[in-house]
Amino acid sequence: MVVKNRLINPGAGLAGIIFLVMLLMSSVTLATKYDVVPPSGTHKGEDVPQPIEFPHDIHVKDNGINCMYCHTYARRSTVAGIPPTSKCMGCHKVIATDKPRIQQLTKYWEDKESPPWKKVHDLPDFVHFTHEKHLKTLAFDREFPVENIKEICAFCHGDVENMTVANKVKPLNMGFCINCHIENKDLGAPGDCWKCHK
Ligand code: HEC
Ligand code: HEC
Ligand code: HEC
Ligand code: HEC
Ligand code: HEC
Repeated sequence: MVVKNRLINPGAGLAGIIFLVMLLMSSVTLATKYDVVPPSGTHKGEDVPQPIEFPHDIHVKDNGINCMYCHTYARRSTVAGIPPTSKCMGCHKVIATDKPRIQQLTKYWEDKESPPWKKVHDLPDFVHFTHEKHLKTLAFDREFPVENIKEICAFCHGDVENMTVANKVKPLNMGFCINCHIENKDLGAPGDCWKCHK
């Protein structure tokens, strides 16, 4: 009865239609279009000493910030990118300003410098790798929900969400890459040497 009344009222009717469309769209995104076989293998990386220990766990797990909010370039370029200090300061001008690490960060910001973040993952220069192509096929083309994108990042970076300091926990060596390409060759993952080696 309530539903019927809503449909008679033009404003509420539109809201009802929008709601139905959203419901339909969400059920589409819940089921992904095709499956991906995740890679296998682990690696025991050392903690990389950083200028400021950046806690992924506090940001991602405790505060629900999406990986791609900070690593903005992942979906459209080769590199995922480390966020500029201005992005940090969008929050840290007001959040946790009494904490020593935030005071360190603020000092970099005031000096117009970036903290000199050290690389955690670093492929040799003769290997070609692109985030964009992988994320397109492993996530966006199959309508994998963007809010869960960390599960796709985890294929190659592990459980960053729970890390107090970013650490390399997947081998990212030739066997790791090639095995995943073999498992997912139906999705166009190449096996030719020259695709990965320029
Ligand atoms: C609030 C911003 C922010 C969010 C959200 C965030 N990161 Fe980061 N990430 C950083 C910063 C800053 C660094 C550089 C410091 C470091 O390496 O510890 C970094 C480093 C990394 C690195 C290591 C880069 C290298 O040098 O190889 C990986 C991998 C990474 N992040 C993945 C993720 C994943 C996956 C998520 C989501 C689960 C995520 N990040 C969420 C800010 C963020
Ligand atoms: C198929 C494997 C794979 C997936 C999936 C993946 N990465 Fe990476 N990522 C790599 C490799 C390999 C490197 C090292 C690249 C290099 O050294 O040239 C890297 C490097 C990085 C770096 C540091 C260098 C850079 O590119 O800026 C960050 C940050 C990062 N990844 C974040 C992410 C995030 C966030 C996601 C998910 C949105 C993600 N990655 C998904 C394999 C992957
Ligand atoms: C969307 C908001 C947001 C952004 C953007 C953000 N942070 Fe944070 N950050 C938080 C919150 C919330 C906390 C938890 C504060 C608390 O515990 O009181 C936090 C905590 C921290 C802490 C731990 C402070 C401590 O000692 O307890 C560090 C270090 C930090 N952030 C660094 C960064 C850096 C570096 C960047 C940029 C790469 C960044 N944050 C971007 C919201 C943000
Ligand atoms: C989850 C499994 C998986 C892992 C792990 C993986 N790849 Fe891929 N890769 C794919 C798939 C699927 C494609 C096909 C993407 C497309 O072209 O649509 C692909 C495509 C590529 C391409 C072709 C991209 C282009 O520009 O045509 C290169 C190069 C590549 N991967 C390199 C690597 C390297 C190097 C690693 C290891 C550091 C790696 N991949 C790890 C699944 C994976
Ligand atoms: C899916 C991507 C991929 C393909 C395909 C691939 N490689 Fe590699 N290769 C890599 C990666 C990643 C490394 C870097 C390994 C490391 O840093 O430990 C590498 C390293 C190498 C090295 C340096 C020595 C070593 O083992 O570290 C040689 C030589 C090599 N590859 C030859 C080949 C040949 C020949 C083929 C074709 C039969 C091939 N690769 C196919 C990803 C690939």
